[in-house]
Amino acid sequence: MVDYEVTVFTGDLAFASTFDNVYIKLVGKDESKRTLLPRSWMSPFFKGKVSHFTISCPAFLGKLTLIELDKQTKFFQDSWYLAKVEVTSPEGHTYHFPIYHWITDSDVHRFREGTALRIFEDNDSLDKYSRQQELQQQQKVYCWDVYEAGIPHCMKADSFLSLPCDIRFSLTKITEMAYTAAKGLAELELREIAECKENFTCIEDISHLLSAHRTETSDYVCQHWKEDAFFGYQFLNGVNPMLIQRCTSLLENFPVNDDMVFLHGQHSLADEMENGNIFLCDYKLLDGVQANTINGKKQYLMAPLVLLQKTPDDKLMPLAIQLKQKPGDENPIFVPTDSEYDWLLAKIFVKSADFNLYELSAHLLRIHLLAEVFTMSLLHNLPMVHPLYKLLKPHTRYTLQINYLARDLLLSKDGDLAKFTASGGEGVTTILQKSLSSLTYSSLCIPDDIAQRGLTDVPGFYYRDDGLKIWNIIHSFVSNVLRHYYKTDDEVQQDTELQNWIQEIFEHGFLSQESTGIPQKFSTVDEMVKFVTMVIFTCSAQHTAVNAGQYDFGAWMPNNPTSLQLPPPTEKGAANEKTMLDTFPDVNTTVHAMAITWLLSTQSSDRVLLGQYPEMHFTEEVPLQEILKFQENLKKLSADIKDRNKKLDLPYTYFDPEVIENSVSI
Ligand code: FE2
Repeated sequence: MVDYEVTVFTGDLAFASTFDNVYIKLVGKDESKRTLLPRSWMSPFFKGKVSHFTISCPAFLGKLTLIELDKQTKFFQDSWYLAKVEVTSPEGHTYHFPIYHWITDSDVHRFREGTALRIFEDNDSLDKYSRQQELQQQQKVYCWDVYEAGIPHCMKADSFLSLPCDIRFSLTKITEMAYTAAKGLAELELREIAECKENFTCIEDISHLLSAHRTETSDYVCQHWKEDAFFGYQFLNGVNPMLIQRCTSLLENFPVNDDMVFLHGQHSLADEMENGNIFLCDYKLLDGVQANTINGKKQYLMAPLVLLQKTPDDKLMPLAIQLKQKPGDENPIFVPTDSEYDWLLAKIFVKSADFNLYELSAHLLRIHLLAEVFTMSLLHNLPMVHPLYKLLKPHTRYTLQINYLARDLLLSKDGDLAKFTASGGEGVTTILQKSLSSLTYSSLCIPDDIAQRGLTDVPGFYYRDDGLKIWNIIHSFVSNVLRHYYKTDDEVQQDTELQNWIQEIFEHGFLSQESTGIPQKFSTVDEMVKFVTMVIFTCSAQHTAVNAGQYDFGAWMPNNPTSLQLPPPTEKGAANEKTMLDTFPDVNTTVHAMAITWLLSTQSSDRVLLGQYPEMHFTEEVPLQEILKFQENLKKLSADIKDRNKKLDLPYTYFDPEVIENSVSI
């Protein structure tokens, strides 16, 4: 007889333990018997527990390729979260079986040894296991659904309880999130006024809302929100750095001229454009969007155009604002020399448009909905033994559940967007559809995006500076790991599972629109590496960059009003402070928006930061070494960002690896 030492790691999660009888079979060239893993009166499969067993076989089994596991009810049916199994052979070789999976039934489950294998090199003859069967099973559990026509497809889920165990939040995450959601208004000391459907009558009343929960940035915003330089700064380093672009020729529908913006003839727009100093923010995607009705009052959502100039002291100053796309007498072009409240109101309408476009396009569509598609396609097309599954699975944690909650609580007809934002209701779908039709692959890849928007040399652009460094670190990691497995372009082309993954993303995420430039297949290793880099960057760094600052920049409502309830001035000179206060959203809209952004900006205590892999699907030396290098590079970048931030009035922290999560989880 020969002995195999088996070590079973039950995951350290709430309810991970099982009291059931667990059976194992080791499969190599030969198979062991299906063997009960012995237990005393205590279960060896308690959460967080590591248990050791010996399995005796009449002869060597050869190289182990698979284990079969099943559990049979001892007292009552329960679920078991199995992290991994290790088996040491009589020759002393240890085989690793990464699992990280809930076992909820009494069926036999088959798990492959940890060495990554692509389909064309997977030559182990395994009677009862096939990659195809594994994928067919996943496709039964995770089905596509269409939430609204014209937007990326999503996971079908009938109810919260129908979500598969493997994608659910941990108890810690769900408890903290429910607590934050339920207590948000109370914590912010806003509950008493949460139902007040009145206007603000003075700016001080808005200041009082911030007294319970302030951040360094929210204080800064509160002090500087009226300043033109800070208005310009936020297009680079606020929550929406995705819209601004260098302007090389004026738009026909935005008839700005030198006399309007350079009263003393000190510059000309033509020269300044030639010098690369003119920038544009165009909210054309909001043109024609039906604005919401809130508290029985019609709301207003503009589609502004903003022209900005980089000054010799490296500030980005707004030169002109036109609030609707079609020029005309009732659509004045506002300039900084207008009356205080004309100019301030013009900027407030821009900021409200920015909030609505950013939340739906830059945040929801370009990150959350795409991350769901990347995840669904991964589960459908890549078996656990595939190297890309091992690389990407940790970057999908909680994404399917958070998106289910977003559809249920934010996007639905009676969700928070419908109650508290100008784009809520019909506008949500319109904006998502328009954003998807204008989405391009290059805009999802920060090096291409920055170059195409002409922003490579804009000073003080920390989103770009830090984002490019993060992109390069992720790219190097992805490249080194994937090139270990794919030595030639031929291998990429031969990998039908990989090709199915990208094809399904193209179909379900980008609705087969070739104009997006999203690849439909990978022909080269380079193409695959770039796309996978984009996936990890989008799900981790980019999400944090546009998500984490929502309370910082939005808590002071005048800086980011979610809705406005008077139309903008159609002629100059009539607006005053009361006009501004009457234009602002009602008290209840304001405080609920604060509570939501607070919830979305609050990190869970069980978050997993970028580059951390508590679920380690790789077992081979090369990827494990690359993970260590990746972590070192991120640590160094974090230190560099912290050093740089010491010199800034307003630190830019959203690309600090110490705050970036591995996946879209909030
Ligand atoms: Fe988010």
